[in-house]
Amino acid sequence: MELSDFFAFFIIVTMTFITLWLVGMSLVNGIGPVATAAAVRRCVVTVLPEQINGSIVELGAGWGGMTLMLAKRYPNNQIIALENNLPVWMVCWLRVKLAGLGNVVVRLKSIDDAPLEEAGLAYSYLFPEAMGKLAEQLKASHGRLLLISHTFALPEVEPEQVIRATDLWRSRIYVYRFSSSLPS
Ligand SMILES: C[S@@+](CC[C@H](N)C(=O)[O-])C[C@H]1O[C@@H](n2cnc3c(N)ncnc32)[C@H](O)[C@@H]1O
Repeated sequence: MELSDFFAFFIIVTMTFITLWLVGMSLVNGIGPVATAAAVRRCVVTVLPEQINGSIVELGAGWGGMTLMLAKRYPNNQIIALENNLPVWMVCWLRVKLAGLGNVVVRLKSIDDAPLEEAGLAYSYLFPEAMGKLAEQLKASHGRLLLISHTFALPEVEPEQVIRATDLWRSRIYVYRFSSSLPS
């Protein structure tokens, strides 16, 4: 086998492996790494407060587009980006490193253990089952938290505000404000 054949073989095997991992993890998670569209991002910006007390947690950071936006918008807050899909996490981590943002940690970790107790803001773009789990998690967590959720609502929790983005699907943005734990 020539060196060029070996490299071609190596690249094909690597790409196949990454693709299978991406698809497999998306099936396990119940959602793939679909990024928040620019139109939705602009809409989210309109509900962001001037200042946030505490850290900012992105629940499922995907490729890092929202992470970068939040890190630039709040340079004095720590951004904790959680993502459990390895190739997606790698891209997110790399983008943060290349952007030279010192206020972000990108963790290869499940959102099930999200450090919401010390968070002032959380952003999610997940799916109904994960929102159910998140509601349970919030019942156990104390502290002031602003949760902004793209498309999916928390079950049985009244949002403070629901706005529609200007994207093709007129996506809903749910805004929840917690002053302490949710009633159990
Ligand atoms: C729809 S994408 C949103 C990405 C990003 N937040 C954005 O808005 O552009 C959802 C992301 O959550 C991740 N995710 C889903 N379940 C997760 C879990 N249990 N732990 C960590 N990440 C998870 C997926 O891998 C995916 O990248």
